[in-house]
Amino acid sequence: MINQCSQSSFESLGRTYRKIKREFASNFPLFFAGSGKENAHPMTNETKSGASPNRYYLTTPIYYVNARPHLGHAYSTIVCDAIARRKRALGIETWFLTGTDEHGQKIERSAELAGRTPAEFATAISAEFRGLWHRLGITNDDFIRTTEDRHKRGVQKLFATLRDRGFVYKGSYTGQYCVSDEAYVDGPPGTYCPDCGRLTETVSEENYFFKLSAFERKLLEFYEANPGFIGPESTRREVISFVRGGLKDLSVSRTSFSWGIPVPGDEKHVIYVWLDALANYITALGYGSDKPADQAKFKKFWPADMHLIGKEISRFHCVYWPAFLMAAGIEPPRSVKANGWLLFDQGKMSKSKGNIVRAETVQDVLGTDALRYFLLREIPFGQDGSFSFDALVQRFNGDLANGYGNLVSRVVNMVHKYFAGVAPETGRETAAEDALRGSAEAAIAAFGPAFDELNFSEALKSLWVLVAETDGYLTANAPWKKPPERSDEEHLALQARVLATAAEAIRIITALVYPILPESAAKVWQQLGQGDIQAAVRSAFLTELAWGGLKAGTRFGEPAPLFPRAEKDAVERMQNLEDNNIGSAVDAVSGASATSSAPEAPQSALGISPIPATPEPTAAPEHATASPSVVSVQGQLAGTVPPSAAVHSQIESQLTEQTAAPVDPATPVATIHVHQVPAELASSRLTSTPIAAPAGAPLQPADPAAEQPQHIGIDDFTKVELRVAQILVAERIPKADKLLRLEVDLGYEKRQILAGIAQYYEPEKLIGRKIVIVANLAPRKMRGLESNGMLLAASLPDGAPVLAGFLEEVPLGARLK
Ligand code: MSP
Repeated sequence: MINQCSQSSFESLGRTYRKIKREFASNFPLFFAGSGKENAHPMTNETKSGASPNRYYLTTPIYYVNARPHLGHAYSTIVCDAIARRKRALGIETWFLTGTDEHGQKIERSAELAGRTPAEFATAISAEFRGLWHRLGITNDDFIRTTEDRHKRGVQKLFATLRDRGFVYKGSYTGQYCVSDEAYVDGPPGTYCPDCGRLTETVSEENYFFKLSAFERKLLEFYEANPGFIGPESTRREVISFVRGGLKDLSVSRTSFSWGIPVPGDEKHVIYVWLDALANYITALGYGSDKPADQAKFKKFWPADMHLIGKEISRFHCVYWPAFLMAAGIEPPRSVKANGWLLFDQGKMSKSKGNIVRAETVQDVLGTDALRYFLLREIPFGQDGSFSFDALVQRFNGDLANGYGNLVSRVVNMVHKYFAGVAPETGRETAAEDALRGSAEAAIAAFGPAFDELNFSEALKSLWVLVAETDGYLTANAPWKKPPERSDEEHLALQARVLATAAEAIRIITALVYPILPESAAKVWQQLGQGDIQAAVRSAFLTELAWGGLKAGTRFGEPAPLFPRAEKDAVERMQNLEDNNIGSAVDAVSGASATSSAPEAPQSALGISPIPATPEPTAAPEHATASPSVVSVQGQLAGTVPPSAAVHSQIESQLTEQTAAPVDPATPVATIHVHQVPAELASSRLTSTPIAAPAGAPLQPADPAAEQPQHIGIDDFTKVELRVAQILVAERIPKADKLLRLEVDLGYEKRQILAGIAQYYEPEKLIGRKIVIVANLAPRKMRGLESNGMLLAASLPDGAPVLAGFLEEVPLGARLK
């Protein structure tokens, strides 16, 4: 992913290296001193150099605005929110930053496809992120957009500083670029991105370069001196081995598009989007501002204690970012921790795969806390984890409704019933109370360290041992049941002792779980008569959490249900909410509108209207209007259907390598009955939902007089994998008059297809168009180039092909069934 430069204007690397080393050793002695043990700074910042141990700065990645937020994004944000809440409850002054990454070629292209300016487009999607965080009760202290002036100013200052300090020089770059990852890729044209698997594009530009190669040793020493810098261990090892493999200089400007921050003094260049994006962590604190208040904030919170990121962007955060900062004379962050991926339907949840679930769906059916609990309990941090509605409901019912929720409800109700809602005196304790107190103390001791090492799953597991023990204690002592041999007085004493003890255990559980279940903890806090939990947070209640805090005589609040048990249809309801919101996935790349439930980003406010679908096919308009839901597009059959009404599979596969001539459109190749997928149903996730016409359903021939097509079974049809793709690149092939070379995006992958349509289509006009391809055709070579698929087109009487397309929005990769 590191690029190559064709011109080098290096000083001697050795000299540069010594200069950086000298400067860093004197500026940031802790980073390079001793064994590193004393410098380790896992989650707590007790050992932090410079900054006060009582401050904590943490960040999420800033999210690209080419797609609406989904559960994958929510995962990273929720993890940070839980950490921020715990830090605050420990009395640590916390600054929690999130935001949106709005520049770059990817966003520029998405906006173009949506028929919007990049600024309008970015504003709309950024508002969706902000709205969702608001809806989920995320407690970020700031939200930065990279299109804000404060950010631009800071990025330009950073770039100028790097240049002034001799770490940036002008060169030229010819090589491969992955637009989706906004990353340079080593390899010849036609190389696929090693990270996302998409086809790269060739870039040939004059660029500014950053002397990344000068930081190889420096970074390795830094990692060694700061073993807690990268986590988890697997990510740390990968990063170190990447750096050991050698670093090449990095292109840090682009000239072939303009949606970015101009290089100061050379405005035809825009600053590389990753340099721009990474800088958000300092510009949001005021870096680049002249205002004393901003400068003070920067001084107060930088270096960041933790950048929480997805594992796929660790190289940018663990290699480029500390190198940029070292070069600029700014201290690197204290740690970068990578979360694994949330998987759904076997793959990484992502807009391009079309397998997303929205956080709002879970929130609407089970509540925000259910989502938070599931993500943190189910997925060991740092590993990939599967999301499924079934597993979610199971956890919800098992751990929350029947576990914690039921425990709280029993105890609070009994305190109301037997003690008029006032906490009783515990009285003389027995071995059972001692045991429960011991368990609670063990939970307090175990929870914090596990949480602070980001081991949320273990932390919750250990806390739920206390939930189970408290439940068992209640059941064993059964304060609701008076055996005949027990006197009234004895029974009252038992009830008081048991309920006061169980309520105290609940208080401990609730305080500890607050960062993960903030809404529910707030309710329980009230029910236990502890008042407003936010007031408790402000008084740093977690610092003094100890057994015995619930005082006798405390008036309890009214009992109220916490986690009403999810009914059998919960899974179905969530599934339906997602299915009815397919538009969110549909519009992801195109920018077409969809229903948004984010309060600050209602659809009307987004200013994004559905983009006109791909240019309407000029052929067979009668099909397009015949029925909005199931449109029969009749496949061409061996001369049986008049060509004017036929959809012709563009027969690339029949182009011979020698002639590259398109096949005669009258030649029969296949019978394809394509039922157009209604946009609201089109989703790759729908592959399990039968929406195609029933097997053998007769299609209306366009000409009733025409011979009936020979029927095939549904099994034959389903062998043909027809999918929606978008043309990204279209170009003529030298010495092949009839062939165009296309690069198409299926959402989940990019491919090259050679199509015999050069006489009928101007390549430039095809770019951005959505088409239908046969995706499972065996690859074949023509003119030495591999063709990986086949386009579908109607064939006019003169043989001219008209590409099949859609009136409605359809997501890339959607299958036609
Ligand atoms: N804009 C860059 C980050 C720049 S930070 C200076 C970017 N954006 S992104 O929107 O593509 O992804 C951002 C983050 O979203 C990921 O790093 C990860 O934290 C989170 N996730 C997105 N999809 C995810 C999953 N399916 N699973 C877990 N996290 C996911 O990269």
